[in-house]
Amino acid sequence: MEVVIQPDAEAGARLVADEIEQLLQARPDAVLGLATGSSPLAVYAELIRRHQAGRVSFARARAFTLDEYVGLPPEHPERYRNVIERDFTGQVDFAPGAVQGPDGSAADLPATCAAYEAAIAAAGGVDLQILGIGTDGHIAFNEPGSSLASRTRIKTLTEQTRRDNARFFGGDVDAVPHHCLTQGLATIMSARHVVLVASGTGKAEAVHQLVEGAVSALWPATILQHHPHVTVLVDEDAASRLRLADYFRQVYAAKPAWQGL
Ligand code: GLP
Repeated sequence: MEVVIQPDAEAGARLVADEIEQLLQARPDAVLGLATGSSPLAVYAELIRRHQAGRVSFARARAFTLDEYVGLPPEHPERYRNVIERDFTGQVDFAPGAVQGPDGSAADLPATCAAYEAAIAAAGGVDLQILGIGTDGHIAFNEPGSSLASRTRIKTLTEQTRRDNARFFGGDVDAVPHHCLTQGLATIMSARHVVLVASGTGKAEAVHQLVEGAVSALWPATILQHHPHVTVLVDEDAASRLRLADYFRQVYAAKPAWQGL
């Protein structure tokens, strides 16, 4: 696991955008894993800017989102399919149908979850997965207690996550669904490169556990310690509880230029 501490989210976002730009230059048909939430917004804004400047094209790329609320009507602005289109994919040049997400309004939820796993596999798997992290250490919607071997399935959101996400529902926690579909921890672990972005003191404990805690279903993100290629991009606030922060700074300062993230 490589931890890169940057002064702010925008500086981190430029590094992630560099990595995605290089990936798409090498493999224009690469498969991206996209996260919703506020953490990746700076990355998406940077990619949109680079697309508008003619530096990067998504025309042959495909993308899979991580998760979806169950039961929101198709036109609901907080349905993750609508969120990712508004925040990112609708502002660049993905081909129609190239961006997929779990269908939280399917009549048969287990079948739609299995079909989603099959679609990711049929695309050849995810090359680069962008992730945020919840204050309770969840990734996608894999809440504490999630099986470390889980695949896409239905989950019940914790009260903490529903409270955290109420800001997207006009501050009304009762408007936040109780259930979601989410890629499992094993699904996320199958991505070839995982890039997790976090900023702010609210994420400091989750980042500390992710990087330095014992691997445990209590902090689901800790499963990433078993992944061979994870990059954790944090600002100073999110890094504030890392015991090894100085070492991570030294490693990054001495990183060979050819290596990328
Ligand atoms: C949400 C999403 C996650 C996201 C996390 C943190 O509930 N399901 O994919 O990473 O919680 O959200 P934010 O980045 O807004 O803090």
